Amino acid sequence: MCGIVAYYGPNNAYEYLIKGLRRLEYRGYDSAGIALLNGDLTIYKNQGKVSELEAIAEGNNLEGKRGIGHTRWATHGEPNTVNAHPHQSQSGNIALIHNGIIENYATIKKVLMQRGHEFKSETDTEVLTHLIEEIQVKEQVDLLEAVRLALNEVVGAYAIVILSKNDPNTLIAARKGSPLVVGIGKESGEFYLASDATPIIEYTNQVTYIDDNEIVAIQDGEMSVKTIDNVVKSPFIQELQISIDSIEKGGYDHFMLKEIFEQPKSIYDSMRGRFDAENLTFSMRSLEEYASKIKNLDRIIIIACGTSWHAGLVGEYLIEEFSRIPVEVEYASEFRYRNPIVTEDDLVIAISQSGETADTLAAIEMAKDKGATIYGICNVVGSSIPRTTHAGAYTHAGPEIGVASTKAFTAQVTVLTLLALGIAEIRGKITQDRLRTMFSELNTIPQKVDNLLQSCNEKCKEIAAIYKNASNCLYLGRGYNFPVALEGALKLKEISYIHAEGYPAAEMKHGPIALIDEEMPVIVIATKRNYYEKVLSNIQEVKARKGKIIAIVTEGDEKVAEIADHYIEIPDTEDSLTPILATIPLQLLSYYIAVMRDCNVDQPRNLAKSVTVE
Ligand code: AGP
Ligand code: GLU
Repeated sequence: MCGIVAYYGPNNAYEYLIKGLRRLEYRGYDSAGIALLNGDLTIYKNQGKVSELEAIAEGNNLEGKRGIGHTRWATHGEPNTVNAHPHQSQSGNIALIHNGIIENYATIKKVLMQRGHEFKSETDTEVLTHLIEEIQVKEQVDLLEAVRLALNEVVGAYAIVILSKNDPNTLIAARKGSPLVVGIGKESGEFYLASDATPIIEYTNQVTYIDDNEIVAIQDGEMSVKTIDNVVKSPFIQELQISIDSIEKGGYDHFMLKEIFEQPKSIYDSMRGRFDAENLTFSMRSLEEYASKIKNLDRIIIIACGTSWHAGLVGEYLIEEFSRIPVEVEYASEFRYRNPIVTEDDLVIAISQSGETADTLAAIEMAKDKGATIYGICNVVGSSIPRTTHAGAYTHAGPEIGVASTKAFTAQVTVLTLLALGIAEIRGKITQDRLRTMFSELNTIPQKVDNLLQSCNEKCKEIAAIYKNASNCLYLGRGYNFPVALEGALKLKEISYIHAEGYPAAEMKHGPIALIDEEMPVIVIATKRNYYEKVLSNIQEVKARKGKIIAIVTEGDEKVAEIADHYIEIPDTEDSLTPILATIPLQLLSYYIAVMRDCNVDQPRNLAKSVTVE
């Protein structure tokens, strides 16, 4: 995601644009740019922070009563000046900013290039700008109609704002899947647009939230709204009641909680456009490019750190289950120093949210030197790791500001699931029926996560209040849920500072059971399809020693629910997709315990969001 701002009114746009971009920088911060309409289109843009954009703009022509601004979170095209927004049409007369992903940009770009269009950037956004102008010229229609026709050809998500040198008294905006707010200024014919109300609130509290498939036209100081199907709408103007600080966090108390609740969207975005459940096909370019290598693979090595390492463990279970290739999961810090046996027949998958973790980077370099093919799974486009790997897939989870990783983990697991299915399909190890089942279940996960967040939130708060003063915690899980137990323990440790350990449930009797007493909460992931009876026995073993059981169970479970001290129900799903759901209550449990212990949830002591040192 990114931040977009725009101004139309009787005053200069520049100040609102720059201040607004600073307020939205939390939404994405790899590059920034503005366009000012002042008889000409004056554009300033650069890789880097808004403050650097300000430095290049100051002292130059800052005139213009219409303006657009963008702080980027790259999805297509490295974070650099050329790929920074605004993007211009072929003639340069139209400037556009965009938040979202144009999924079918490559197809549209190909057609436009055949018609002589030349593109400056690698972005999907620039294609939309050219398409709008191409339609305007070809169909001889006005800017508003050209935008409407173009959006009918587009597949994907967008919040866009467009200016044209040929229409100085027009500003067009539209949204589908990405947020867009319009503030009604205090002066006549004055409008403030932005991704959220944060930049607007200091100028006006009268706003209207634009809905999906709606187009806003501001022409000669008047605003109108219609759908991309040409149905006229009456915008609902409401009064903003919230503080600026709370808006940046979307109304949540912490970025971590906001990111936990963003997971229905981030999980959907990590799948978006990557498979077709109807035709049972994949659209993951890296899989196609490396199909022959995948066919002859002997082994896959997964390297990562922390939460990403836990995602890697889930990846091991997924890839071995579906494609029957042996997988080893390595801590990057260990792997890089122990002179491992790596050959050119190996595929190394490097997982990293930040794309900057020093140990993971170093491990990649070493594996590359030994001839392995490196596949990256990262969240930050253009970060060091994606620039080092041979291939990869971005998780598209959007900026993760909270130091404790949440949405990045579930996005990583989602991409690993697609990778495991794709590898299995290439190696002929999965039937069409099984693939169809997995695709259709994957499509239900974002909604199941959304329902789960609503259903378990209060219960997690209640349980957190009971155990917030625990000194130690044990997390137990089997199979796919073993990595979830590790991840749950890490979440609790790193934000509440309570000592916690994750174990394979059966492993508890080989020592850790000595720790169990009536003070010890034991979180057990006991979902229906995952060694259920075995985990039931483990729960009995804990109960026999007076341990307190907090069980994560499948909806409708009765057996575990009967003996556990507390239980949280999660929706039923494929065994292999359980980690995405089972993690959610563990994230919330850790979050509420940390808040009740007055810990700094978004910036826990001693931690950094990206560990760029060894
Ligand atoms: C997870 O909550 C931690 N913040 C930490 O373990 C993190 O997962 C680890 O440092 C790896 O970071 P990366 O995914 O950016 O490489
Ligand atoms: N897909 C566009 C790009 O990569 C916009 C990304 C964003 O929302 O910042 O430039």
